[in-house]
Amino acid sequence: MGTKKLVVFGLGARGRIYANFAKTYPQKFELVAIIENAPDRLEFAKKEYSGAKIFSDYKDFLKENIEADIVAVATQDKDHKEHAIAMMANGYDLLLEKPISNDENDCLEIYNASKKYDKKVIVCHVLRYTPFYSTVKKYIDSGKLGEVVTIHASESVGYYHQAHSFVRGPWKNSKESSPMILAKCCHDMDIIRYLMGEECISVSSYGGLFHFKNDNTPKNSTEYCHDCPVKDCVYKAQTIYTSNEGIGFAQYFTMRELTKENVLEDLVGTDYDKCVYKSNNDVVDHQVTVMNFANGKTACHTMTAFSRQIYRDLKVHGTKAELVGVIEDNTFEVRYFGGEVEKVKVDISRANVGGHMGGDFYMMESLYKTLNGEKADGITFLDVSIDSHLMSFGAERSRLLGGNSVEIKK
Ligand SMILES: NC(=O)c1ccc[n+]([C@@H]2O[C@H](COP(=O)([O-])OP(=O)(O)OC[C@H]3O[C@@H](n4cnc5c(N)ncnc54)[C@H](O)[C@@H]3O)[C@@H](O)[C@H]2O)c1
Repeated sequence: MGTKKLVVFGLGARGRIYANFAKTYPQKFELVAIIENAPDRLEFAKKEYSGAKIFSDYKDFLKENIEADIVAVATQDKDHKEHAIAMMANGYDLLLEKPISNDENDCLEIYNASKKYDKKVIVCHVLRYTPFYSTVKKYIDSGKLGEVVTIHASESVGYYHQAHSFVRGPWKNSKESSPMILAKCCHDMDIIRYLMGEECISVSSYGGLFHFKNDNTPKNSTEYCHDCPVKDCVYKAQTIYTSNEGIGFAQYFTMRELTKENVLEDLVGTDYDKCVYKSNNDVVDHQVTVMNFANGKTACHTMTAFSRQIYRDLKVHGTKAELVGVIEDNTFEVRYFGGEVEKVKVDISRANVGGHMGGDFYMMESLYKTLNGEKADGITFLDVSIDSHLMSFGAERSRLLGGNSVEIKK
């Protein structure tokens, strides 16, 4: 298989994973260009990825007609339409960050543009590529569970992750970015649809913002955590961003080495230092979505901010067996009716770039195979990826209607 030329558009947290994959596996991907407009990230790009041409404006990149096999569009949700369509119109296939867009009509415009320009768009539904879900999918496809009738999945976001991304960070406001069910759970909608192997025909959803709002502000708290006298707040930014679990998120406000001293210094006065009860956030902190599939099959998904750890659990109920597992454990059980309980362990030790329980790494491996014309597990294009987005937009509409059933139509 030959080396493929990669362009990274948006060198943020996600773009760096794709750039780092190319840096780690230069025989697979050659990073030919980076497009990034934040001055500190531009400087970082020049130092870290010296072989790539660096552009601060994508229009300058387009003028140079640089040859590339794939452009990874990893800018923010609301910019995907402009950036994805501009790249496709100029002849590039895309690895497009999820969500396709934060707006339903824009998602459909991107889909139509991919057909108009005859361009391939692979959406970064990274969970599909994890050893956990891809092994679950193989078990389902083998028929060992019989016919799948019901799926129950939950996503426990983690209190510190919710505070970082969905209260203080880029995805806190549904109009400026995306509603939670799209931003966070379009992965889950994609996985549920993938494992069910059927199109979803209607959804109902309930949920709201329960905790992270002004009504719950502790007495005497200040606007920013750095000078707040409240001692027992579990959401204190200085504690979260210096903890083992939270320190990685500090890359959203500092490009310096993530030492405690650098993090505490660069945190002061940023949005990430703000009180979680005064952050102008509106996305939900809990939501339940019920899905109705063809042939009367059903699924249910629960998203909650309120967990100590970040984890997703899954139960797939078939006519001959049930499958139960937690992706973060990399294990699941298949409980055969009237028979044995099979314990399955998956191995993610090869995944040395990115996160998502190996999903980022294996997605890049599958992308590499696909670009070389080989069959690759999990790879799908916009015609399938759009389904998870229509399910998410439908769920949000239902939630805002108080739980009314909403039909899903492509
Ligand atoms: N696949 C996943 O699991 C996953 C996980 C997290 C985030 N995401 C998605 O990935 C995307 C990026 O998220 P992130 O966390 O890396 O955010 P980020 O804010 O760290 O990165 C976005 C980058 O794009 C750059 N940028 C913005 N406008 C630009 C422009 N016009 N020209 C050049 N550069 C520009 C920004 O300066 C920034 O460096 C979002 O759509 C997000 O929802 C996907």
